[in-house]
Amino acid sequence: MQEIRLELTKNPKQKPTDESKLGFGSIFTDHMFLMNYDEGQGWHDPRIVPFGDICLSPAAMCLHYGQAVFEGMKAYRTAEGKILLFRPDRNMARLNVSNERLCIPKIDEAFAQKAIETLVSVEKDWIPTAEGTSLYIRPFIIAVDPHVGVHPAKHLMFLVICSPVGAYYPEGLDPVKIYVESQYVRAVRGGMGYAKTAGNYAASLKAQDEAEKQDYTQVLWLDGVERKYIEEVGTMNVFFVIGDEIITPALQGSILPGVTRMSAIDILKSWGMKVTERPISIQEVSDAAKDGRLKEAFGTGTAAVISPIGHLKWEDHVMVINNGKIGEISQRLYDTLTGIQWGKLPDTMGWTVEVK
Ligand code: COI
Repeated sequence: MQEIRLELTKNPKQKPTDESKLGFGSIFTDHMFLMNYDEGQGWHDPRIVPFGDICLSPAAMCLHYGQAVFEGMKAYRTAEGKILLFRPDRNMARLNVSNERLCIPKIDEAFAQKAIETLVSVEKDWIPTAEGTSLYIRPFIIAVDPHVGVHPAKHLMFLVICSPVGAYYPEGLDPVKIYVESQYVRAVRGGMGYAKTAGNYAASLKAQDEAEKQDYTQVLWLDGVERKYIEEVGTMNVFFVIGDEIITPALQGSILPGVTRMSAIDILKSWGMKVTERPISIQEVSDAAKDGRLKEAFGTGTAAVISPIGHLKWEDHVMVINNGKIGEISQRLYDTLTGIQWGKLPDTMGWTVEVK
């Protein structure tokens, strides 16, 4: 494995004093990880350096053609003071799936995980300790060739930055209001929907903005062909409890294969619940709401964790789910998942990795 060069800051920043006001994603720690890729040389020069601006040519290809992929992970501080990562191998594997789709040279997954563990260890004093807080980790890769022509890059940068965070949604664990998007689409099969790439989030901005103006938290995307089947919610995968079945859209290439999604499925199945990954139409959800079979709906994501949906609007049908309150399954899932992540429950699945 390559040696990671370490250059510590001489000007450490003031850490947040009130952890109840962290919000999400606007405070950054003292250091970042960087390495470069150059054709013929591969990934090289891994280093942890003071957090700061990076120098890019205005012609850098990521700025023009969106050849950029990223991941979202968290480091958790347990009551005993240990630091845990949650399934970092899954994030590194998904990063390479995104790389493959975006013609980005693959990274060595074990090395990238080691780099993240080293950075988190350097930044350990930045990991917040208040209930529900964590250190959000954002690995990303950008194409930096100065070239105004559409080709896969030959020069790239891999960076990792960290941010102490609270809840992603201001609602916290209170149910969110979601609007079913019937006009815009996020992705289609054959496109990039399954990759965690900048362009998918750019595609979501317009609908997200319109939803927020109407006082909704995010939008629920429908498939790009028939506008019939449910895909995912802004930054989360989505689950519906209908009767005794828990349904989540199948992975068919247009939605993100969430690490929290796969963990939720495993936890629910371990409780003996019937979890089905299959196409589910918005009509099916609407019908179930009308005849009282729609018991709960919730989203899953690293940033969002488990986020109950209390209100879903599709055209003229406003569905108030579980009286707008968090449901029993969503609450139990939240408690179990976060219990494992914060080391309050035994990690029987072997999902956590301790950072020393
Ligand atoms: C995550 O859940 O980690 C995400 O990447 C979602 C978002 C903050 C873009």
